[in-house]
Amino acid sequence: MNDKSKSIGILTSGGDCPGLNAVIRAVVKAAEINNWEVYGLPYGTDGFRDIAENNYSRKDLERFRLTRKCYELPGKIRGLDVLQFFSGSVLGSISKGDPNKNPEVKEKILKGYEMLGLDALIAIGGDGSLEIIYDLAQEGSWNLIAIPKTIDNDVPGTEFCVGFTTAVEVVTQALYDLTFTAASHDRIIIVEVMGRDAGHLALHGGIAGGADIILIPELTPHLSLDVLHGCCEKLLNLQQCGRHFGLVVIAEGVKNQHNEKEDRIGDYLKKEIQEEYGQILCREKHPDFCRLKDIDMRVTVLGHLQRSHPPVAWDRLLANAFGVQAIKLIEEEKYDQLVVWKQGGVGIEPLYDVIETIKERHNDEQCPCPSPVQKGDCLVKTARSLGIYLGDSNKDLGSSSSFSCSCRN
Ligand code: F6P
Repeated sequence: MNDKSKSIGILTSGGDCPGLNAVIRAVVKAAEINNWEVYGLPYGTDGFRDIAENNYSRKDLERFRLTRKCYELPGKIRGLDVLQFFSGSVLGSISKGDPNKNPEVKEKILKGYEMLGLDALIAIGGDGSLEIIYDLAQEGSWNLIAIPKTIDNDVPGTEFCVGFTTAVEVVTQALYDLTFTAASHDRIIIVEVMGRDAGHLALHGGIAGGADIILIPELTPHLSLDVLHGCCEKLLNLQQCGRHFGLVVIAEGVKNQHNEKEDRIGDYLKKEIQEEYGQILCREKHPDFCRLKDIDMRVTVLGHLQRSHPPVAWDRLLANAFGVQAIKLIEEEKYDQLVVWKQGGVGIEPLYDVIETIKERHNDEQCPCPSPVQKGDCLVKTARSLGIYLGDSNKDLGSSSSFSCSCRN
């Protein structure tokens, strides 16, 4: 127990993900042991703007207090204790606009922070929101601790972000479910997975769910002809091995043949594969490809289902470890840190370095992902060894020897 009482703010910012409420609960529980006060900001930094705009009195500000007793349920279940099981954010979140670009809004946010009289702020965010909040914190001399969350798992410095593992579970379960309908109809099902510019979610979910092809932006920045031919060859190979269905995972960050973003890259892939094997490969390259003409293809876009499943055990554990670590850092008055998971334990990274990397990457059009899948990643190697096609440049499609049956899955 710490004698010096503190007043802490907590907010969730950017796209929601499973485990945010578990972090909030952990922070409140750990803070209460120190007799500290925790204030929950509604809708990220917009909560500060709201305070300034409405010129709330000290008494009004008490509405933002989070305690273990709040949300009490019948039978005296402490609502806060149940929070860890829910996805979403009880505080609400905001994922559009950069107040740093609007001096009037920025001023209100800084004023709201002052009015609340916080000793420190815990910001739970992804790469985009942490960049924004870091700049505000510099301007307002806030004592900031950041906790990484995002299903994209692309915050530099941490092996895991809160929410990622649950999203992987959703993708894995979807592939499992789709296997049976695909098999019943001898179909290829393309599953489009979120991740923004990163392929972690598609790679992890794809391997765990038994995909035959996984296309991620780090290895397949765009759907070149080579990649399309490689996909066709893989599908042909499956057929030759007696497998008449298949699962293809494509991350939303993969671009089309002309290196442009598509709204629905899964639909584009389907159209292009059908075109390639139907018209080009079958006609010009090798008669074997004509067999692919009969393949039926469907596309499933998992969308926001990936963000809203109840957090799995690992995300709750991570949320608890991160929340407790954030309070410990405030106790030590060690600010401007990102709480991370590395080498089997909780740790910290200087926020300055993390934000520098994020800013650098956000300015790099070719490689905008702040923490991409590495080509030598153990799971990339695992996928290769399982015979999963990852969009690598293709062998000579003109030579019939390349179609010999190699049934590796
Ligand atoms: O960053 C998380 C994420 O879910 C991405 O994977 C996805 O591209 C994006 O957010 C979707 O954002 P929105 O909820 O604004 O559609």
